[in-house]
Amino acid sequence: LGTGPLAGRHVIVTSGPTHEPIDPVRYIANRSSGAQGAAIAAALRDLGARVSFVTGPATVPAPDGVTVIPVETAAQMRAAVEAALPADAAVMAAAVADWRVENGSDQKIKKTGALPVLHMAENPDILAWISRDARRPRLVVGFAAETQDVTAHATAKRARKGCDWIVANDVSPATGIMGGSHNTVTLITGTGPEDWPRMDKHAVAARLAARIAEAIA
Ligand code: C5P
Repeated sequence: LGTGPLAGRHVIVTSGPTHEPIDPVRYIANRSSGAQGAAIAAALRDLGARVSFVTGPATVPAPDGVTVIPVETAAQMRAAVEAALPADAAVMAAAVADWRVENGSDQKIKKTGALPVLHMAENPDILAWISRDARRPRLVVGFAAETQDVTAHATAKRARKGCDWIVANDVSPATGIMGGSHNTVTLITGTGPEDWPRMDKHAVAARLAARIAEAIA
């Protein structure tokens, strides 16, 4: 059994991108590396938590010492999160695809001359769902990647999603955050925004895990 302030606590962490299939060989994806989510899972583990790590196809490896639940699509991610409940906290760090292809093909689409037309459907919002579910963890933390007015947009997102905290960051290309090693975040809680200094993603994860430990220990 683990020791540390989160010993006996169960935390679900989502991480990485999702892949939404077009046909058996093609998919729609995004540029999330999964680095911040993996670092958060490791930091929670280091504080003694039992971690269910629900991860899309990330480019960084999953940490040791956590229960890895690999998924591909947003629908699979939602089902995996539901299956992992109950939990004391949930940290939704995944870059979930907003849309899936509704008219995907079971067979590879052939080049016939006519261009394929993809019809999109909206994916389930896992963060909004878990925040309002009857089995809601005591603490639900979401992320907000913004390119302008970070604090204002993230504060609105916190209310809209119904989560407790939002970890907001500026992902304008000039910041190098997406796929980079460092992150500059603002933590939005019920008492307002807190600007954290620029730190590497492991330091952001350690600081967030310590705050989570204070909140649910
Ligand atoms: O709405 P937006 O995608 O900006 O919200 C980001 C936050 O919501 C992240 O915490 C992300 O993991 C979560 N999210 C989710 N399911 C979705 C879309 C976003 O859990 N379908």
